[in-house]
Amino acid sequence: MIQESEREALCVRVPLRETERVRRWLAERGLLLRGCSILREGRHALIPVSGEVEGYPLVIAKVRCRRNPGMLEVLEGVLDRQELELVRRSFDIVGDIAVVEVPEELEHRRREIAEALLRVNPHVRVVLRKLGAVEGELRLRRLEHLAGERRTWTVHREHGIRLWVDLAKVYFSPRLAYERRRVAEQVREGERVVDMFAGAGGFALLMARQADASVLAIDLNPHAVRCIRKSLSMNRLRGRVYPVLGDAATVTPERWASRVVMNLPMGSRAFLKTAFRAIRERGVVHYYTTAAEGEVTGRVDEALEAAQRAGVEAEPLLVRRVRSYAPGRAHYVIELLVRA
Ligand SMILES: C[S@@+](CC[C@H](N)C(=O)[O-])C[C@H]1O[C@@H](n2cnc3c(N)ncnc32)[C@H](O)[C@@H]1O
Repeated sequence: MIQESEREALCVRVPLRETERVRRWLAERGLLLRGCSILREGRHALIPVSGEVEGYPLVIAKVRCRRNPGMLEVLEGVLDRQELELVRRSFDIVGDIAVVEVPEELEHRRREIAEALLRVNPHVRVVLRKLGAVEGELRLRRLEHLAGERRTWTVHREHGIRLWVDLAKVYFSPRLAYERRRVAEQVREGERVVDMFAGAGGFALLMARQADASVLAIDLNPHAVRCIRKSLSMNRLRGRVYPVLGDAATVTPERWASRVVMNLPMGSRAFLKTAFRAIRERGVVHYYTTAAEGEVTGRVDEALEAAQRAGVEAEPLLVRRVRSYAPGRAHYVIELLVRA
């Protein structure tokens, strides 16, 4: 299935006797152009690289590279032209599970599409299909098994953290990876954090890896708490994560936290007062919400009013569009600093 093709690539030119040492050095730094063969040129070797490397002469040379055929190439001859045009090329990868969308018109082809995806992505072991939207209090969606091993759990790696995730039982989106890192990088030594809607614990574990912090990871879903416990045993963290099963409205401690994360975009508005009651002076609330562009200022005002009702004064630090959610609507994060 794997094919070879010739292509021009940037290469470092090294004396033959140094080939193996330099190849290893490049590989350790992620600079080796994987899947491409090293070329011999007289007493020198040309090693294909993925970017500029200081300290070695660079040349451009034609090298042979392995090429995995794409999903559409595998499906040619199985699906007709019209069907091929309808195939969605993008999909989510969680651990070794691919989560795909199959349009209704391709319903009868869904298993062939999933098998093709398995063939061209050797690291994918399971293909699941989204059946509808994320819904309900626990933010779950129905999934259909299409190909590969029959399971919905996996271990997902994100920024060096291993997360145990069961996609049928707990909400998880790999698309929030950047946002989780952005927030985690703000956490400082000794902080006390409440993650009010922790899900599989993506924010919580990353924050405890970032600094020696105490993180309360609250979720209403017992499976979420189970996932977090499993992940805790798989990671070395500098801080501590305490999984808490319960309703954030009742179990969030008062005047305890230096930071509160409220990642329940569809429903977090109702918990703003709880969040501001949880926070201490100079603490930060990361408030996630859905809004149309014209509604964002109103959301900030609502949050400031909720702070007042909780008896604290707050000021907005940042408003960021996290991702689009529906036509004309998006998920936003509003970060608020509690002054006193
Ligand atoms: C959008 S998901 C959280 C995702 C998670 N922060 C992440 O980064 O993967 C929202 C979570 O809030 C939980 N939830 C909903 N209502 C809740 C409540 N009242 N108290 C605590 N957790 C709640 C759901 O079970 C779900 O796991």
